[in-house]
Amino acid sequence: MNHTIALITGANKGIGQEIARQLGRQGIVVLLGARSLCKAEQAAAELQAEQIQAYPIELDITDDRHIQEAAKKIKAEYGKLDILVNNAGIYLDHEGDGVEMLRRSFDTNFFGAYALTSSLLPLLKESPAGRIVNQSSILGSLGTIMSDEMYAGASAPGYTTSKAALNAWTAQLSIQLRGTNVKVNACHPGWVKTEMGGAGAVMEIDEGAETAVYLATLPSDGPSGQFFHKQEALPW
Ligand SMILES: NC(=O)c1ccc[n+]([C@@H]2O[C@H](COP(=O)([O-])OP(=O)(O)OC[C@H]3O[C@@H](n4cnc5c(N)ncnc54)[C@H](OP(=O)(O)O)[C@@H]3O)[C@@H](O)[C@H]2O)c1
Repeated sequence: MNHTIALITGANKGIGQEIARQLGRQGIVVLLGARSLCKAEQAAAELQAEQIQAYPIELDITDDRHIQEAAKKIKAEYGKLDILVNNAGIYLDHEGDGVEMLRRSFDTNFFGAYALTSSLLPLLKESPAGRIVNQSSILGSLGTIMSDEMYAGASAPGYTTSKAALNAWTAQLSIQLRGTNVKVNACHPGWVKTEMGGAGAVMEIDEGAETAVYLATLPSDGPSGQFFHKQEALPW
């Protein structure tokens, strides 16, 4: 059977595992990437118990060897990739504002997503409807950083600049992908009750996964090169 195949990074917990669950419920085969194979196996087993076709992949997106192995495995087993959700992310700004913290923020939030996507693009182009979702944040929006709205007071140079870079690259990649079957969009999940979002967040995890799932399953006349929250385009 010609299944739809999705890879979700940082899928061992939080929004990533829930994106995998919601895609899996649609009959999509979900590959759960996690930097610990053991955690990927555990998260996949939880979804398998819900009758979802879920499989673990060891994938630290800052590790080039993991990226190459994942690409090789997906090529050998499926010959294509239909959906890539670059969900893995970190927030390190509580550690201060040194250059080292910024580098590590960029390594995961920007370079990791960039390197993984670059390696998987040939497989995404083999799909009749390739979809890339870059899990960003409203904190990566320059307009939001400069606004008087609720997030304006937050000082988080590592997180905001690495997510802004992810946004800029999303727009850039969409131009590169014009005329192909692959769409790419950036996603703001909302403020979600996860380890990163904290208990004070306003959204439950299932709601926080909805925007990425919407973008991962866009129809052929859907948008590309935009930034979304809940099916609504946001300003960059
Ligand atoms: N929660 C919010 O309110 C919120 C708001 C806006 C945007 N976001 C974005 O949504 C995404 C998911 O966040 P979340 O709230 O679900 O956070 P979370 O519960 O902290 O989960 C983050 C996930 O990313 C993984 N990860 C971190 N570095 C990685 C690496 N180098 N390679 C592979 N995986 C890595 C983590 O793995 P480990 O378990 O190994 O650490 C974990 O699975 C992030 O990109 C975040 O920036 C979240």
